[in-house]
Amino acid sequence: MKIPFNQPFMTGRELSYIAQAHANRHLSGDGEFTRRCNRWIEDNTGCGRALLTHSCTAALEMSALLLAVGPGDEVIMPSFTFVSTANAFALRGAVPVFVDIRADTLNMDETLVEAAITPRTKAVCVVHYAGVACDMEAIGAICRRHGLALVEDAAQGIFSTYRGRPLGSLGDLGALSFHETKNVISGEGGALLVNRADLYERAEIVREKGTNRSRFLRGQVDKYTWVDLGSSYLPGEIVAAFLVAQLDDAREITRRRLAVWARYHEWAARWEHEGLLRRPVVPGDCTHNAHMYYLLLPTAAARDAFIAQLTAKGIGALFHYIPLHSSPAGLRYGRAHGDLGVTTSSSERLVRMPLWTGVEEHLDEVFAAADRALVART
Ligand SMILES: Cc1ncc(COP(=O)(O)O)c(C=O)c1O
Repeated sequence: MKIPFNQPFMTGRELSYIAQAHANRHLSGDGEFTRRCNRWIEDNTGCGRALLTHSCTAALEMSALLLAVGPGDEVIMPSFTFVSTANAFALRGAVPVFVDIRADTLNMDETLVEAAITPRTKAVCVVHYAGVACDMEAIGAICRRHGLALVEDAAQGIFSTYRGRPLGSLGDLGALSFHETKNVISGEGGALLVNRADLYERAEIVREKGTNRSRFLRGQVDKYTWVDLGSSYLPGEIVAAFLVAQLDDAREITRRRLAVWARYHEWAARWEHEGLLRRPVVPGDCTHNAHMYYLLLPTAAARDAFIAQLTAKGIGALFHYIPLHSSPAGLRYGRAHGDLGVTTSSSERLVRMPLWTGVEEHLDEVFAAADRALVART
């Protein structure tokens, strides 16, 4: 692709931090660089505790373990999401219960959540799609009323806010991703944000193979041992060192992405006015982080033709997600609550445009190709 869909951005300091990790001779997890990442996330999100993980998937799996989600329990979530949201809970034997999304933000429709609750419901897992927050006020109130845990899949949400509060700090637990496709990256990477003090210690244990090794490292016990269920969820120091370089520049990366997002939004206004597409919607009480610029075309055929025309010009435009409720594993392990019409329709009509730090210089070419593809449909 001449203009790829994604291109990882490097700040230029990653290798020097990795050299320091190398010189420190501490390459396993929870060294100096991991601690710096944890502190940065705590300082910048206001979460209770941050624990670096090797992926957002790992942080979601830790959430399921921490909330003691088990066989037969149900977890309410959108179908319009990445597989890890559902997999994390299905792995514990729970049933993902899929509800439809709102037509404006493509986030889980808060007005449908309460009707999906059964005596088996244990938790709600929201997904802040495209780094735009769900209606956390409404969903939080439902969870409190029914005694349900609230998990935020904030994989795409670093630096986004809801009513002034950073995503990941609003639920009982939150999960961030630093995968190469995200705004701030370490190749693979993530973090668990723990907002309930009663879960802090178990979160450390679950992350360290079910042992109290963290207490041992702090000198609180004289040997460490197996105390609970857990797995290996922490990254090594090389990955954490890479991430420190990215976190140093995270605000600047976000600023540049927001500028690209704004140019897309301005370009697309005319086409929205002509009824050929719909632009993303960001509610007034949310700020977003320009994780994604998507367009909704009127039909699946229009979307497929648009992507084909951009691809022919060497421009990487993609679609996602195949709704989980209609996927092979979703049918086997999950359950759809009601009609998921908005999910199905959005999935068929959505296209994601190239958005990465550095794509600025190619945007005129992207707009010209997209204009030609849209003019062909007028
Ligand atoms: C909504 C959502 N949840 C979870 C994940 C998984 O993140 P990771 O690749 O860090 O495990 C992603 C990544 O694409 C995502 O977009």
